[in-house]
This record gives sequence, structure tokens and C-alpha cells, in this order.
Amino acid sequence: MSRKLSHLIATRKSKTIVVTVLLVYSLLSFHLSNKRLLSQFYPSKNDYKQTRLPTTSHSQDINLKKQSAVNKKENQLHNLRDQLSFAFPYDAQAPIPQRVWQTWKVSTDNKDFPSTFRAYQKTWADSSSPHYQYSLIPDDSIIPFLENLYAPVPVVVQAFKLMPKNILKADFLRYLLLFARGGVYSDMDTMLLKPIDSWPSQNESWLHNIIDVNKPIPYKNLKASPLSSDKISQQPGLVIGIEADPDRDDWSVWYARRIQFCQWTIQAKPGHPILRELILNITATTLMSVQDPGVPVSEMIDPRYEEDYNVNYRHKRRDDETYKHSELKNNKNVDGSDIMNWTGPGIFSDIIFEYMNNVLRHNSDIMLVNPNLNKSDEEGSDGASALAEEFDGGALSKSTRRFYKKISESLQSSNLMPWEFFSFLKDPVIVDDVMVLPITSFSPDVGQMGSQSSDDKMAFVKHMFGGTWKDDADKNAGHK
Ligand SMILES: *[C@@H]1O[C@H](CO)[C@@H](O)[C@H](O)[C@H]1NC(C)=O
Ligand SMILES: *[C@@H]1O[C@H](CO)[C@@H](O)[C@H](O)[C@H]1NC(C)=O
Ligand SMILES: *[C@@H]1O[C@H](CO)[C@@H](O)[C@H](O)[C@H]1NC(C)=O
Ligand SMILES: *[C@@H]1O[C@H](CO)[C@@H](O)[C@H](O)[C@H]1NC(C)=O
Repeated sequence: MSRKLSHLIATRKSKTIVVTVLLVYSLLSFHLSNKRLLSQFYPSKNDYKQTRLPTTSHSQDINLKKQSAVNKKENQLHNLRDQLSFAFPYDAQAPIPQRVWQTWKVSTDNKDFPSTFRAYQKTWADSSSPHYQYSLIPDDSIIPFLENLYAPVPVVVQAFKLMPKNILKADFLRYLLLFARGGVYSDMDTMLLKPIDSWPSQNESWLHNIIDVNKPIPYKNLKASPLSSDKISQQPGLVIGIEADPDRDDWSVWYARRIQFCQWTIQAKPGHPILRELILNITATTLMSVQDPGVPVSEMIDPRYEEDYNVNYRHKRRDDETYKHSELKNNKNVDGSDIMNWTGPGIFSDIIFEYMNNVLRHNSDIMLVNPNLNKSDEEGSDGASALAEEFDGGALSKSTRRFYKKISESLQSSNLMPWEFFSFLKDPVIVDDVMVLPITSFSPDVGQMGSQSSDDKMAFVKHMFGGTWKDDADKNAGHK
């Protein structure tokens, strides 16, 4: 028995060493390549203060699909969007990197690492195939890691450090890791149910199958989308799941968005433009909203769009005369609604829809595949548990087909992606190179909104909904 134990300890030790060596290696190699990059961007490190912050208002007319290649003439890199594109170029043809990212207060070999998480963490560290590189970043490594990774764009790290709540940092960190290095990010309170290699995003036969069986949807005056064969076998660049699809009139009491994408598990290729736009938005919001930024922000922004930059000026609050709009954010006055619209699922979902609308508006070769549109209303109801029926009031027997008219009209006449396109999903959907998985994929067993059990073939990750948030005061903030 003691031999068994020492063997166990030895394997654990060697695992830790491997992870540490990998981390040190990636830090070093990044440090060197960033040093080279950095010298091309700035004569001196403090010149980042000249960086301009573009806003989403500007991005309406940017063709987010064609924009990726950036001319590296120095005078064009004063804009944060161009700097991010240049430092982390997007290669749509490349496969999704075989990496898994997690983060916690302490590393797994620390005695304070929660024992409940150890079992969850093992599912990610052990059962992905051996080609996967697993990294768990403990709190005290985050800043040095980001300073290396984001050396060419120091305002981004500046924004990260200024964030007044850990929950904001936890959200922002996942986008930053995936944008720079790609792979899968998953919260500590999640369990991997099936190997990542078997997810629809990486299963070539699945990708071919879905496109053969379900012809891509014609849009823009019924012009059929031309599909080249390499586009079919190409892995999607961003893979997200549905967090909430509440089919009820009072949905806004429970969730921030009618269709809310989940961000506890995300798979991405590095440099994906959705993550870039999200990072831009969050960086700008943070620099403008937080006390004592120490960066001359007024010189970085276009005064015509000043309100875009401050989280206090958004939506509901804009019309609220009693709200102190000029009050800067600190750890006491940040609330759940701020977190939703600043770094959380609210802004995550908004940027995804904005991106989709943008590519639809500017391109005529966008692949749109939605097998759910041809599912009849009766299908699927037999698998529903009594509990789910009770919660849903029968929503499980409803299908995306119900919205067929609305969806095709919206796509054809206004080139807008309606939320209905993602409602009642049972099969994954493809929009350009974004794959949206049904609620069951990352949120099985919740017993509502059409979520099936973790035995379902579409269930890949189970969210245990327990204490991911690092700060107790932050707990459940923004997650109603
Ligand atoms: C960030 O996105 C939100 C939601 O779309 C928008 O209201 C806001 O103006 C954006 N901010 C910036 C700085 O782009
Ligand atoms: C890949 O998808 C096909 C369906 O197209 C499925 O039959 C097969 O089991 C999947 N492969 C894996 C490894 O899950
Ligand atoms: C899906 O349904 C639409 C509308 O009924 C039909 O035009 C289309 O051909 C169907 N597609 C497939 C692949 O069955
Ligand atoms: C957050 O954003 C949503 C969607 O744009 C909006 O309806 C809501 O009012 C915003 N919250 C605040 C506090 O502004």
C-alpha cells in the first residue's frame, strides 16, 4: 500500500514538474519574442500612453472578417485594435491548439487547494489526450504571466491590474488567455465529461455530416452560400455554449439576455476577432470607469463617443437622472449589473451578436448551418424528464422551427442575426467560423430550458456551480 502511495505521489510530483517546466518555457519563449515585437511598436515602453482606444461605435463599419491582416507600418499601430491584431494574428485555417487553461488561488500541490476541485481538475488534466498541454495558473503567477504575454500591448495589462473586483479579473483573464494562446478555458468548478477530441468542433466526420445533411442556409436574397471543401473540414475558430434560453415573458427577471452564451467554458483559436473586440471593449470600459487610472485616458479616446467608454453610461443608467454618472468605480460600488455588462456573460453575448451582424453585413460567403430549423416540434419530447417538463412548461417539445419565418426574414432583409436562431438548440449551429453548442453541452442536468442529462451525446462539460468566484463578496454577482 505504501508503495502505491509513493507511486501516486511520484506521478503527481512529475506532473507538477512537467506543468511548471511548460509554464517556464512558455514564459521564456514569449518574453523573447515579445521583446522583439515590443521594439517594433514603441521606442520606449512608456509610449503606450499614445495608444488610441477604438470603440464599438467605430467598429460598425469594420469588416471584421477581412480586417485581420494588419499593415505593420508604425503609424498605424497607435490604435489598440491594430496592435492586438498585429501581436496576435488570427489564422482561420490553423487547428484549435491542444491546450487547457484553468486558474485558482493556489496550485494543485498546495494544501489549500480545495479537495472537491481536485476531482474536477483531474478530469481536465488527466483525461484529455496526452497531446494536450494543461496549465493551471495560480493567482501569484497571473500578473507576471500577463506582463509577458501582453508586453506588446501594456494598456491591456494596465486595465487588468486596475479592475476593482476579482470577479472582473477572473472574467477578463479567460479572454486574455484564449486570445493570446487559444485552446479550452474552463472554470475550476467544471468537469470534463468527454475527451475534447470528441467535441463536434474537432470531429471532422461530424462537421462533414452536419453540412451534407443540413444544407447551409441561403441568405442575402436567397443567394446560396458557396462552400469550398477546405472550409468544411476547417475547425471553428470559436466554440461557445448556450447558458440560458428562457422561453418565458419574465425572462429578464432571471437572466441578463434572452439568449445568453456561457463563458465558464470556451474553446478558441488564438487571435479570434470576437475575443479581440471583447478585450478592446473591456480595456476601454475599465480605463474610463475606474478610480485613478494613472493613464491619460482623455488623450486615448475619441471625445465624440465618450459615453461608450464608461460602464455608468450604458443603457438603463443612461436615462436615470438620479444615478451619479461621473462617479468612478471602486470595489464598493460595483454591482452585479456592472459585472454583467463589463466583463460577464452580458457583454460576452453582446459582442458575439455584434460580430455576427458585422460579418453578415459585409460578406456574402458566410456559412450558416442550423439543423434545428428542420426539427419538428414533436421531436425530443420523449427524452424529457417530468422535472424538466414541469420547469419548462413543455418548452422541450418546442423547436427552433417555430421561428423559421422570423429568422429568414431577419437574415434576408436586414442581415441581422436574430436571437431566435439560437433558441431551442438540440444540435450545434455554425455561423461563419463560430460554433454554438446547445445548452446540454456545457450545462447538462439543470432541469430547465431544454437541458438534457449528462448522459446525453451532446453533453461535454458539467458545471458544478460551486464557489468558482474568488472573492466571497463577489459570489453570484451577475449570475441571477
Ligand atoms: C462595449 O460594448 C457595449 C455593448 O455593445 C457598448 O454599449 C459600448 O459602447 C462598448 N464600449 C466601447 C468602448 O466600445
Ligand atoms: C464524430 O461524429 C460522428 C457523427 O458524425 C459520431 O458518429 C462519432 O461517434 C463522433 N466521434 C467521436 C470520437 O465522438
Ligand atoms: C428545411 O426546411 C426548409 C423549409 O421547410 C426547406 O426549404 C429546406 O429544404 C429544409 N432543409 C432540409 C435540409 O431538409
Ligand atoms: C446592461 O446591458 C443591457 C443590455 O444592453 C441593458 O438592458 C441593461 O440596462 C444594462 N444595465 C445597466 C445597469 O445599464
